Amino acid sequence: MCGIIAYVGDKPSAGKILFKGLHALEYRGYDSSGIALLNERNNIKVFKKKGIVKLAEKKFLKEKLNSNIGIGHTRWATHGEPNNKNSHPILSYSKNFAIVHNGIIENYSSLKQILLEKGYEFNTDTDTEVLINYIEEIYNKSGSNFENALSTALRQIRGAFAIAIINKKTPKYLYGARRGSPLVVGIAEKKFFLASDASPIIKYTNDVIYLKDNEIVKVSSENLKITNLKKEKINPEIKKIELKIEEIEKGGFDSFMLKEIMEQPKSIKRSMLGRINVNTKSLFINGINDYVNKLLNARRIIIVGCGTSWHAGLVAEYFFEKYTRIPVEVEYASEFRYRNPILNSNDVVFFISQSGETADTLESVKITKKKGATALGIVNSVGSSIARATDEGCYLHAGPEIGVASTKAFTSQLIILFMIGVRLARRLDKIKEKKYVEMIYQLDNIPKLVKEILKKKNIIKNIAKIIYKKKSCLYMARGTNYPVGLEGALKLKEISYIHAEGYPAAELKHGPIALLEKGTPVIVICTRSDEYEKTIANIEEVKARKAMVIAILDSKNKHVSKMVDHSIVIPQIKNDFSPILNIIPLQLLAYYVTKYKGLDVDKPRNLAKSVTVE
Ligand code: G6P
Repeated sequence: MCGIIAYVGDKPSAGKILFKGLHALEYRGYDSSGIALLNERNNIKVFKKKGIVKLAEKKFLKEKLNSNIGIGHTRWATHGEPNNKNSHPILSYSKNFAIVHNGIIENYSSLKQILLEKGYEFNTDTDTEVLINYIEEIYNKSGSNFENALSTALRQIRGAFAIAIINKKTPKYLYGARRGSPLVVGIAEKKFFLASDASPIIKYTNDVIYLKDNEIVKVSSENLKITNLKKEKINPEIKKIELKIEEIEKGGFDSFMLKEIMEQPKSIKRSMLGRINVNTKSLFINGINDYVNKLLNARRIIIVGCGTSWHAGLVAEYFFEKYTRIPVEVEYASEFRYRNPILNSNDVVFFISQSGETADTLESVKITKKKGATALGIVNSVGSSIARATDEGCYLHAGPEIGVASTKAFTSQLIILFMIGVRLARRLDKIKEKKYVEMIYQLDNIPKLVKEILKKKNIIKNIAKIIYKKKSCLYMARGTNYPVGLEGALKLKEISYIHAEGYPAAELKHGPIALLEKGTPVIVICTRSDEYEKTIANIEEVKARKAMVIAILDSKNKHVSKMVDHSIVIPQIKNDFSPILNIIPLQLLAYYVTKYKGLDVDKPRNLAKSVTVE
């Protein structure tokens, strides 16, 4: 949610570097974008515009200003509608300071009142303008020391922020700070970067510092200094990032989403690497080794996440309860954090997050730890805030996910959760060695089966052509595939804007069946399971209302295809693991429907990849 990039260095190419960075960060928000540079005469020049990064870049290219220092931003609007004036960077009242900000300043209206009484005027509807003016006010009052003014002001701020600031008073220095929202410092030869994540930095360096909450960074092309809000100096830990440039490029695909869907045989394999070994018939849950005993003795397991990650948690609930017999609850992070959850040291809480930065999930980790329960992460982004805040965790190793609609992260989350479930079940002796080994073989075979499904993309494309003009779609499934129905519906609605709902198949008649008309698409997951005949009965109910049934079937129940309008037949796998296969055709369906509608699959309206505000 909002992307920040800032640069200071010995080369006067700040503008170019910032726009390159903004293109890499655009997936975080694309309501508007802009940069601010200090020119030779020490004036701040701003180039910003509503809409995608290219539009602001065009403005900059007309002037091509050379500068050694600047800040850039791509916005997902919170306070103030997405228009030119509310775009970042935002200047302070005196125009001496420019800021970019990711987050929400909660006490902005009381601060604004104070500033209005002092004669400040405001040009935008943003909380960010209040913040920069408040910093300016303290700077003017407290004897012109910018560092001191910044820490004094930030101590009085409530809410979340990652910020980068340039100013005319100390023109050689770039300042940054964070609380809640992420900020990474990149260190290269005579160059420093500040960014919301490592993607815009890796072109220049692998050395980074992950700024911690309430830390302030001050950099020139020569020096770096980090302090906390008490003005104490911090000795930072420099980490190496292992991201490769190819991982954040489209690699010949028309979109990141398609690249990430097609990559799943590899990304799932990477998630299993070093964890499953069919030769030695072994399965290790590296990452949470120290907490296995806690898990084995847990009173219950709670799984917390948002969006797609929450859906992965629901699948795990079915799997864990069936095989470990430990009670499992799955919660939306945004609800969990505010309902004073009853937790103690006998509880283990898993936090699932692709980005590792989702504000509600991060806050839930803090609450969990405060209450003495164990917090374990299942996170994709290495070094992210949730990965660092949890007691231990398993990285997905799915590689960067850039398409706003989550795809490969979901299948990697599932494979990790399945591995954890299988290992726990064996340790608890709920499954015998023979079954354990069988399961290891089945898990290991999943990438191959996913590859086979991806080969069917043209069948799915043809179905997309039939439904892309429809206004509404229902998804239904049972048991462990019910969350896959929810996830399939989420994919479709978030990128194609077709209204879509997922339901447990039997629940359809408790309401949603009223929505069915002749030709309404109903997508049914009906792969072989103990309940699949009941799902067939639900298909009949839907057909009786003349809806259009599209079924996901497997090689064992192909015969169902005669009963439905369209079918996608995928390879057979044990029902417990079928969610990881069944979601693939649903991802492709959402992708092709969106392409037929002529929409941008990677940048759906109103959404952002990483939700760093609550
Ligand atoms: C946003 C993204 C979703 C994602 C959700 C949770 O809504 O658009 O794709 O599932 O956040 O994000 P996380 O990074 O915590 O998994």
